[in-house]
Amino acid sequence: MTRARTALPTLGRAHITAVQAAVRDLCHRYARKLPFHGWHHVSFVRSKAVEFARANNSNVPVVETAALVHDVNYLVRRNSDASAGRGLRMNLLADAGVDWDTASWIDEIVDEAEMRTRHRDISLEAQALSDADTLFKALPVTPVVLAHRYLIENGISLRELASKIVGEQVEKQDDGYYFYNPQAAATYTGWAEANLRLWQCIHESLDDPTVEELLAAI
Ligand SMILES: [Fe+2]
Repeated sequence: MTRARTALPTLGRAHITAVQAAVRDLCHRYARKLPFHGWHHVSFVRSKAVEFARANNSNVPVVETAALVHDVNYLVRRNSDASAGRGLRMNLLADAGVDWDTASWIDEIVDEAEMRTRHRDISLEAQALSDADTLFKALPVTPVVLAHRYLIENGISLRELASKIVGEQVEKQDDGYYFYNPQAAATYTGWAEANLRLWQCIHESLDDPTVEELLAAI
């Protein structure tokens, strides 16, 4: 959903600083629950989302705040959708002094940007958040140093993760909106293709019983 920017209340630096402090505190306090979606992830997505919001002329403070609260659902329930975090997200924003309308808009952006359900025509703010979150997934270092943390955090198997990644992401790549920002697409599509090919190969390899035996033995 795209809203008229002229009707927006102010979202100031003080609000964002307060949201940041609250989310960082939660991430650190519950770091054991968030080996993948901890502060390192939130901080990366926030930085990149701000870049992409500036590039597509969307509302930078709203996108920055959305990035800060986009994954709080993992504090509420393991292996959940963004919507599971709505209550906590709205409380964090209210506690930081963000008005209800802006908080609701931020929550909608987070929902829009979710990989599983996002589409070609999401709002510019959701596009900026999505590109930042998608880039984290596509980084060449993510499957090497972080994927095993995703399995632990969410209590799923390697087969389930490979199925999820291939099932949710290949279609976006094939249909040309894996990244919305043209510069991001030009810069990072090579990484995304290599990452998706790797996960397709992982999925295929798990059909070999000897590979399954190998994984069961380690
Ligand atoms: Fe995320």
